[in-house]
Amino acid sequence: MTTSAKTPPKVTYTNSGTDFGLLHELYDEAIPALGAKLGRRHPNWIGGQPSTAGEVYVARSPIDSDIVLGEFYAATPQEVERAIAVAHGAQRGWQAIGWEKRVVILRRIAEEIDRRKMELCAAAIYEVGKSRLEASAEVAETSDLIRYYAAEMERSDCFAGEQKRGFQGEDVRSIQRPYGVFGVIAPFNFPFALVCGMMSAALVAGNAVVFKPSPMAGLSATLIQECFAAGGLPDGVLNILNGHDVTGRAIVEAPGIDGIAFTGSNDVGMTILRHFASGPFAKPVLAEMGGKNPSYVSARANFDDAVAGVRESAFGLQGQRCSANSVCFVERPIFENFVNALAGRTAELSIGDVRDRATYMGAVVNEAAGERWQRAVDAARQRGRIVRGGNRLAGGRFDRGAHVGPPIVTDLPDGHDLYQKELFAPFIVLRPYDTLEEALKLGNSVRFGLSAGIYSQDQAEVDYFADNVEAGVLYANRALGATTGAWPGVQSFCGWKGSGMTGKGGLGNWYVPQFMREQGRTFMPIQRLG
Ligand code: UN1
Repeated sequence: MTTSAKTPPKVTYTNSGTDFGLLHELYDEAIPALGAKLGRRHPNWIGGQPSTAGEVYVARSPIDSDIVLGEFYAATPQEVERAIAVAHGAQRGWQAIGWEKRVVILRRIAEEIDRRKMELCAAAIYEVGKSRLEASAEVAETSDLIRYYAAEMERSDCFAGEQKRGFQGEDVRSIQRPYGVFGVIAPFNFPFALVCGMMSAALVAGNAVVFKPSPMAGLSATLIQECFAAGGLPDGVLNILNGHDVTGRAIVEAPGIDGIAFTGSNDVGMTILRHFASGPFAKPVLAEMGGKNPSYVSARANFDDAVAGVRESAFGLQGQRCSANSVCFVERPIFENFVNALAGRTAELSIGDVRDRATYMGAVVNEAAGERWQRAVDAARQRGRIVRGGNRLAGGRFDRGAHVGPPIVTDLPDGHDLYQKELFAPFIVLRPYDTLEEALKLGNSVRFGLSAGIYSQDQAEVDYFADNVEAGVLYANRALGATTGAWPGVQSFCGWKGSGMTGKGGLGNWYVPQFMREQGRTFMPIQRLG
């Protein structure tokens, strides 16, 4: 058996301590193989046909700006209109085949993703700057997500509701029907999992999709298109339009769009909602919009678990997760020790080329992200203390990608912006607390409410946290991640407050039904007339 014919081991966000010898052998082949294929021009896809209308733009790798990932066409508003019309045409047949057949096709797509796993992983490395293990976990999450949503349809018989019979002879049913055409607008940080999560839920429910990837993630979009086509998705059910804000806005503002699934910033999510609110009727916006996720470390914590979990959630994937841990409240008696231990463990993280086996952290996604991070570091230096990190790595290839030393920040005044605003970069602020009540008040006093974690071996403290924290994804005493690492069918991922829109999250069993609307049918039996 050649190496590439072997099945890679399954990596999740929480088994990264395992020794993945074979995985690295497979990576040693897959990374150069994909590297040799970079730099090509990729069309958009409408109705199963390539479309090359629109201005060409170039996407470069965060690893090294000399590496051109590919060239893409920024789809024009006219192409958006055309794609939506084509999607409506295809949607009718897709709805008509019934959910059982859609489930079969989605499972085939999941198989295709698994079959091409190493290639997709290599793409996530080049495109996002993920480490090998991060990339593997994301691609494993992707096929698990698709299978989970398919299984949810099966388990619930398409979320059929039991209704009481009003009168004898009536046929009474509550059924769920797709809305029509969903726009799917995605960020760069999980170019496979977040995209395929939103998309597969929309599709299995019977909608067609017009999908706009992040302008940084067009390469993965091409691979997704190939996997979905190979799995047997009919032409026109999934249409892919690359581009920037103009393309995204055209999708949101098109009268023919029936709903939006969006993952990205709170500002953009709220803009979409406000736009829909100005229309003649409401359309669903399913949005996941980032976080400012706190962790709480009690004096009664398992200290080493807390250090490990906070480090992982703050700096894994360069802090570019919406679930990243960015503020850590530590009980005062252990504060100095905790800060020092976290600083020490953070110094051990290897920063460099994510193509290498040993690298834990790569560059942040682009220079703009590097500059945003730099401004945060400058602000922290002015008003607080940087215990370690906060430096830009320089020289050689480091000058062609924003590699940063993750900063450990303390002594910031309460209410400072760095406690409030999402940074999407490796950066953590620590603050001592005297009572958990006071700490939770501070941690809750932000517009977001995605994830939160506590470390305490005192059940009463864990209960207090669970009862009072304003967030949708909670973890207690998890060494593998204080606030990160949700998995389909295991943790539901619901943003509260400014982190979400509907009170129902992805990865859980309330997600798919949001892509359908109810219809209560009370039908009397057909009579023979005359
Ligand atoms: C994100 O953080 O942008 O829970 C998406 C996690 C992963 C990623 C979620 N499932 O950390």
